[in-house]
Amino acid sequence: MIGSGRGVGKQDLMRHLIAGNWKMNGTGQSLAEIEAIAAGTALVSFASEILICPPFTLVARAAALAKGRIAIGAQDCHPGRTGAFTGDISAEMLADAGATAVIVGHSERRRYHGETDALVAAKARAAWRAGLLAIICIGETDAQRQAGEAHRVISDQLAASVPPNAEGSTTAIAYEPIWAIGTGRTPSPSEIEETHARIRHHLVCPGERIRILYGGSVNPVNAQAILGLPTVDGALIGGASLRAGDFLAIAAACDPS
Ligand code: PGA
Repeated sequence: MIGSGRGVGKQDLMRHLIAGNWKMNGTGQSLAEIEAIAAGTALVSFASEILICPPFTLVARAAALAKGRIAIGAQDCHPGRTGAFTGDISAEMLADAGATAVIVGHSERRRYHGETDALVAAKARAAWRAGLLAIICIGETDAQRQAGEAHRVISDQLAASVPPNAEGSTTAIAYEPIWAIGTGRTPSPSEIEETHARIRHHLVCPGERIRILYGGSVNPVNAQAILGLPTVDGALIGGASLRAGDFLAIAAACDPS
């Protein structure tokens, strides 16, 4: 099981991680989708690990509802444990609320909150300190891609936002090209393959293999083509994770038919 202070087991690391990022969407009513996802995974036993990251306000209720049937995570955390940081939430608080994972360095945090690679690395360390799986996001803008800078940008982000002692039991990387997020556009399978292979090359880690997820406009139609790629260890899903049916269809795409 993801996080829970005891890391991710060896068996789990062989499985795909299908993670939903609800962003700033969801109120108490949306817990029905979490229940539907949890119930869906009980009906069909998926080969992949399932994680939903609702907004902070729903984390505790979602975790209580999920009862371990699926994992619940958050979308951000502060690097510190406690202190005078109005409006912030620490990784320890998330763990206390029942979260077992946290997304850090999402491009929307980097863009709208000015988060730097160094801050993202500090947040990843905070996640580890609290026993949470850190899902560290990286990815290039359209302009960087057009300028042929995507590989350099990704290498720089990996070097500065993934702490050196990252390993598979504590960390996953989400490659999310910014131009693919919420746009319906995705890189071609061969582009995803190439980028994931480059990311893998950078991740020389001492322990278990770090999972590399793809994110950006994953939907039930393209899921099989993306998740079937040998270098893709799962997906981070925004829009399509808000509907249980679509999310479960994506998770089902990981299963051998
Ligand atoms: P999307 O978002 O699936 O809606 O493109 C992905 C993300 O931002 O994590």
